[in-house]
Amino acid sequence: MLLESKIAVITGGGRGIGRAIALKFAGEGATVVVAARTKTEIEWVAKEVRDAGGRAAAVAADVADEKQCEHLIHTATAEFGRVDILVNNAGEYGPVKPVEEITPVEWDRVVAVHLRGAYLLTRLVLPAMYARGFGTILNISSLSAKSAFAWGSPYAAAKAGMLGLTRVVAAEAARKGVRVNAICPGPVTETRMSKDLGHVLAERLGVSEEDQLKGFLNTILQGRGQTANEVAATALFLCSDQSSAITGQSLNVDGGAAFY
Ligand SMILES: NC(=O)c1ccc[n+]([C@@H]2O[C@H](COP(=O)([O-])OP(=O)(O)OC[C@H]3O[C@@H](n4cnc5c(N)ncnc54)[C@H](OP(=O)(O)O)[C@@H]3O)[C@@H](O)[C@H]2O)c1
Repeated sequence: MLLESKIAVITGGGRGIGRAIALKFAGEGATVVVAARTKTEIEWVAKEVRDAGGRAAAVAADVADEKQCEHLIHTATAEFGRVDILVNNAGEYGPVKPVEEITPVEWDRVVAVHLRGAYLLTRLVLPAMYARGFGTILNISSLSAKSAFAWGSPYAAAKAGMLGLTRVVAAEAARKGVRVNAICPGPVTETRMSKDLGHVLAERLGVSEEDQLKGFLNTILQGRGQTANEVAATALFLCSDQSSAITGQSLNVDGGAAFY
């Protein structure tokens, strides 16, 4: 088991990619603490883990809120003793429109969920990780951080910011036993975020959702989207000792779409 006796906090763990990561990590021996705003979803994922014989807890939290981030890390630590792995995965796409139509409130919200949330949780877990000389942080960024898709500027900016955060924290943490990496998934078409985005894009472009998706997937070398499970497999690699010499990196899980 690759994560035997590790304690992992996974934000956005109630569905989609976060749920897949929680189930994958639990299957490899980790105790998982899943966090998101919708209690029913995180409690269901925690139950799925427990029903399969694992250990899990669900903590309702909005990662854009400092106090709720504190509550999440405090609860995980109180219940399980420490946090070995933090996966910053919670996210929403935000407004789908040109930058000049995006309000400052909309902009701030998207940046707060992705970038500020990752920063808030990182600063909360690092001191104890440094004290133990061990820890792993994984930031779920996006192909949007490295490509140029119209009508998603706050999302792209926040995801690119997460890559900067990843590199700088990796530099600060490397000699203290903590590794920090990122994953840039391409279109994971099965998730709610992806489906909602596809719907809005098709409407804006005046094409069917099928044609919109087909056109996009055709730009990828493999000609298909990625699965949440494929992202989770890479998350497992980056959070386990299998990747012990890898830090400060962003790994593209995009079927061949970005090449840096
Ligand atoms: N799907 C893709 O194509 C794709 C591609 C690249 C990157 N990503 C990234 O992958 C991550 C997961 O997305 P997904 O596709 O799995 O979407 P999803 O199925 O919609 O899941 C998003 C998760 O994040 C949680 N969340 C959203 N806002 C939150 C907040 N403020 N505080 C706490 N939790 C919050 C959601 O739960 P609540 O709403 O209940 O809070 C949910 O559990 C996101 O960061 C996304 O940007 C996705």
